[in-house]
Amino acid sequence: MIEYSIYVVDDEESVRDGISMVLGEDYRVETFPIAEAAIDAMSETTPDLILLDIGLPGMSGIDALREIKNSHPDMQIIIITAYEDIDTVIAAMKLGAYDYVVKPLYMRGLKVTIQNALETIKLRKEVQAIQEKYIEDNIPCFIRESKSIQSVMELIEMVAKSPDTPILITGETGTGKELIASAIHYRSPRFRGPLITVNCAAIPADLVESELFGYEKGAFTGAVESGKRGLIEEAEDGTLFLDEVGDLSTAAQAKLLRFLDEGQFYRVGGTKKLSVKTRVISATNRDLGTMVKKGRFRRDLFYRLAVVEVAIPSLNQRREDIVPLARHFLLEFKEKFGKKFSSISPEAEKALMQHDWIGNIRELRNVIERGVLTGSGRELTPGALGLVKSDTRETPRKKKEKAGYPPIPPGGVDLTSAMEEFEKFYMAEALKRAGGRETEAAKFLKMNYSTFRYRRRKLGIE
Ligand SMILES: Nc1ncnc2c1ncn2[C@@H]1O[C@H](COP(=O)(O)OP(=O)(O)OP(=O)(O)O)[C@@H](O)[C@H]1O
Ligand SMILES: [Mg+2]
Repeated sequence: MIEYSIYVVDDEESVRDGISMVLGEDYRVETFPIAEAAIDAMSETTPDLILLDIGLPGMSGIDALREIKNSHPDMQIIIITAYEDIDTVIAAMKLGAYDYVVKPLYMRGLKVTIQNALETIKLRKEVQAIQEKYIEDNIPCFIRESKSIQSVMELIEMVAKSPDTPILITGETGTGKELIASAIHYRSPRFRGPLITVNCAAIPADLVESELFGYEKGAFTGAVESGKRGLIEEAEDGTLFLDEVGDLSTAAQAKLLRFLDEGQFYRVGGTKKLSVKTRVISATNRDLGTMVKKGRFRRDLFYRLAVVEVAIPSLNQRREDIVPLARHFLLEFKEKFGKKFSSISPEAEKALMQHDWIGNIRELRNVIERGVLTGSGRELTPGALGLVKSDTRETPRKKKEKAGYPPIPPGGVDLTSAMEEFEKFYMAEALKRAGGRETEAAKFLKMNYSTFRYRRRKLGIE
């Protein structure tokens, strides 16, 4: 059985003694004559429940209630009033008191009120334990050394709690946007619901609407007989994660806006309004503000999505995270590949610190993965990281800056194939940096994913 602890704050000794006597049998009770003393004690240990008199010498019960709720929003507080002063009771309830009791106290009634409050606490604790388990099971270890990423985490812990607030996550490619989205989902009250991820860039433009909103049978040629639920419906009572939201078509943007405004939508070809409760988290590595200015993204939708914006700093902006992340990935891949690595050499750490991480954490992860896979021994060395070699990838850029392009030969130049060469070179470089992942490679080149795939096949890039 859990032993609950209760603080009793009342200036009348007889009340304190009376309550202690009755409750002392079942609970651990501590009494305080003034609120200041109870608040002081709370800096050491916090009780499960507080019985708080309103008419106190010194700090008033209402002020104490406000202060305690500020520092401990989840604390259950039952107020004791000398007479049923409705204004005081309303003020206390508004400040988050759980319930109130009126003097003279009837101990049996008080006991029932306390049992109810403790039951609520018990349920809440159970839910918390389950939620922690969900977080542990679903979110990989999250490295947060730098101040800047710590404040990002503080922000998401706060906003996660209001399950309807739309959140826009911005940050360069590979900074952890998807990971943050799932961290928000599993910290929200709807953590048991589904987390549905939609990669808006990977769905062909003409299918986005039917994928998101679903369709009725016969809505278009190729639609399956029975119709289909959309991803928004799948996300009911959970989270809808719209990744690469900057790639949504204008038509889909308009429909999404309507859904966000009203919580309702139609399936493609449908006539029945459907309503779904889900939180929309969106993410983009594009500058949506600029897209709005250029008329490529709806301003009203932007404001709707970005009720809260979580901006993830690039890895170059939080270099304190580089080595801790590298060590974390070293452990991950050493397990995975059954290698002996236990540390990163000081020279290799230096090389990591000096590298320009344009692919952010994903690039770092790829580098460590490759190093662990191809290297040997206990210590990861600069050679295994291959960062020295990757410096050569700067050469084309440097060459371009310094020397410019070769002059046009007398016979003229085939510009189309010259451009194709250029394109091929950058696409292959981008693929290398993205560890072969096409969506990421496309992002490095600020290209649309389907265009990237199409060009890759056309140019025959391995
Ligand atoms: N703080 C962190 N601690 C540990 N691993 C992290 C952290 N942040 C990101 N990662 C890892 O880095 C990789 C890239 O993260 P993620 O896919 O979330 O980035 P992204 O911003 O969504 O990238 P993209 O814009 O390319 O879609 C993933 O393997 C993720 O688990
Ligand atoms: Mg992503």
